[in-house]
Amino acid sequence: MKSNQTLYPATVVALRDLTPTVREFEIQPVEGVAAPWEAGAHLQVQLLVDGQVQTRCYSLVGLPDGASYRIAVKRMDDGRGGSRAMWQLAVGDRLQVSEPQNHFPLDLSAPHYLLVAGGIGITPLVMMVQQLQAHALKTGATLRMLYGVRTQDELAFLPLLRETLGDALQTFVSERGEVMNLAAEIAALPGDAQLYTCGPVPMLEALRKAWSDAGRPAAGLRFETFGSSGRFAAQAFRVQVPRHHVDIMVPAGSTLLDALENAGVETLSDCRRGECGLCAMDVLALEGEADHRDVFLSEHEKQQCSRICACVSRVVGSVTLDSAYRSD
Ligand code: FES
Repeated sequence: MKSNQTLYPATVVALRDLTPTVREFEIQPVEGVAAPWEAGAHLQVQLLVDGQVQTRCYSLVGLPDGASYRIAVKRMDDGRGGSRAMWQLAVGDRLQVSEPQNHFPLDLSAPHYLLVAGGIGITPLVMMVQQLQAHALKTGATLRMLYGVRTQDELAFLPLLRETLGDALQTFVSERGEVMNLAAEIAALPGDAQLYTCGPVPMLEALRKAWSDAGRPAAGLRFETFGSSGRFAAQAFRVQVPRHHVDIMVPAGSTLLDALENAGVETLSDCRRGECGLCAMDVLALEGEADHRDVFLSEHEKQQCSRICACVSRVVGSVTLDSAYRSD
C-alpha cells in the first residue's frame, strides 16, 4: 500500500500571524469547494523545498465552512525547510493540497477528557476543544486542557481557547519555570477518561510513560506528533540501499523518505508523521547515530536500531538500509 493522496490546485487567500513564529494560512481549492473535515484532520500540502517537490502534513484548524481550509504553520528555521517554504507564500500564490485526512479522530463517547498540547501541537486540538466544549454542554462531559510552550508569546490561539475553556485551560510557560506534572494530572483523571495529546516527541514519550505507569488502558491515550523534534539538528547524511544500487546523500532539508523516493526507491508510507510505522526500513549497517523521531517503534527497537522510520527519523553519519517494499 502506498497511500499518497490525490492533490488538487488551491490558492492562498489570506494570511494571519498568530504569534511571531506561527502563521495561519487560509487556502481555497481552485474548484471552489473545501471538503468537510472532523476534529483531528490534516491536509497534505505539496511544496517546493530547495528545488525539490516535497509533501508536508498540517492540521486543519477551525470549523469547516465549505469554502476554504485553514492551517497554522510554525516557522522552524533549523527544520527541514517545509515551514520556510510555507512562510514564503503570499496571498494569491498557488499550491497543491489533498482533501482532509484524519489519523487522529475524536471519540465522543467518553465522560471525561484531558487535552495536552505542546507548542505547535496545539493545532489539531483547537477544533477538538470547540467540538468537545459543545459536547460537554449537552452531555455534562468534563474537559480540561494543558498547553505548554517555551515563551508566553508562543501561545497561539490563546484568545479562542480562553473564551471556550475559561478556567479549564491551564498554560505552562517553560521559561518561567512552569512545568506540567503529568503523573499528578493523570492520577486526578477518572478511570474512564480519554487523553488527547499532540506535541514534540519527548513530551509524547513522557506522557505515554506516565499513562502506562498509572496502569491506564492504552486505548485511552490518543496522540499525534510532528516529526521535527529530534536529538540532533537536521544535517545531511549518507544512505545506501544495496538492493536498489542506491548511494545518495539525504540533504538537511529533506526527509529520508523523500530522498529515497526521489532516487527511485519505492517505499511504503502513509502518515508521514512517524506514527503508523509503514515506512519502517531494515537497518543493515549504521556508522554514527540514529535520530529516531517516530512514536511507532518501541524504546527497545530504537536502542537496537534494527529498523528506522524513514518519514521522520534521520541519521548523523551514514546508514545502509533495506526496503520492505517489494513491487511484485
Ligand atoms: S509513514 Fe507512517 S511512520 Fe512513516
